[in-house]
Amino acid sequence: MKVSIIGGGGLVGSCAGFALQAGKIVSEINLIDVNQELCEGQALDLLHGASLMAPQKITSSGTEGAKDADVIVITAGLRRKPDESRLDLINRNVALFRSILADLKKNTYKKEAIVFVVSNPVDVLTYLAVKELGLPASQVIGLGTVLDTTRLRSMLAQRLAVPPTQVNVTIFGEHGDSMVPVWSAAQIANIPLEKFPGVNATLIAEVEKKTRGSGAEVIKKKGGAGFAVGVSIADVVHSIALDDHRILPVSSLMNGAYGVRDVCFSIPTVVGRTGVKSHIEVELWSKEKTALLQSATVLKETISKVLKG
Ligand code: 2OP
Repeated sequence: MKVSIIGGGGLVGSCAGFALQAGKIVSEINLIDVNQELCEGQALDLLHGASLMAPQKITSSGTEGAKDADVIVITAGLRRKPDESRLDLINRNVALFRSILADLKKNTYKKEAIVFVVSNPVDVLTYLAVKELGLPASQVIGLGTVLDTTRLRSMLAQRLAVPPTQVNVTIFGEHGDSMVPVWSAAQIANIPLEKFPGVNATLIAEVEKKTRGSGAEVIKKKGGAGFAVGVSIADVVHSIALDDHRILPVSSLMNGAYGVRDVCFSIPTVVGRTGVKSHIEVELWSKEKTALLQSATVLKETISKVLKG
């Protein structure tokens, strides 16, 4: 399976490329970036390690490289400042994102291609891609709260000194300030979180607060996320490549779950080779449901500004 990464020269795109190389599942990694020299350098750096990895084709190109891609990952875009929200980026990134979509349409792409949006504000841009690319909505996916979810799981695991791979709590809604950690379904090694030794309301509140601020914290300390967003992207791409139907909190066009329509955000979503297979509507605490509906409202308000703009 060929994966093209638009923005492959940048931190997020190149980390995604490295995560896909280390994952050894996809057959071709194609990096695309307006900064051609940087993009070629990233591809060369990946290529140099190929003999220790897997028989993957590693290339860099212009947008034309995406025309035979099975998955087109879009990571290009400006990063927010630490004190900005992801939605604040909307004025700067929409024009760039629309030019990328136009470029993709001009160079064409496979009718069965999956377009995977990472650029922020990811939920709004995923919605824009659904509306403007003319692909079936199921073939347009956003990274959504996959990154927030792994941050929450990993930091909760660190606090409780348990394996991060055995922490199961998921964030729904916006990849942004209105995200909704679903504590009602949280477990550690199949043990309900509230029954796990050492767990209390203070600890949960602290880890939730740190998760919400993680994006800004990483931007402040190192300029922006790279490794965690790279492995998050690869995790979703691998589900597509393997057609494994895993349930992931990716962002996609809502079509009625929780009574929400005509917005993209994250709820448990079955992901396979053709993209979104289905949404899973799990029971939530009433305060979680309220917060999720509020998240949809916030995103719809931004979407309407963008579409009017
Ligand atoms: C983050 O949360 C880049 O939005 C991404 O770090």
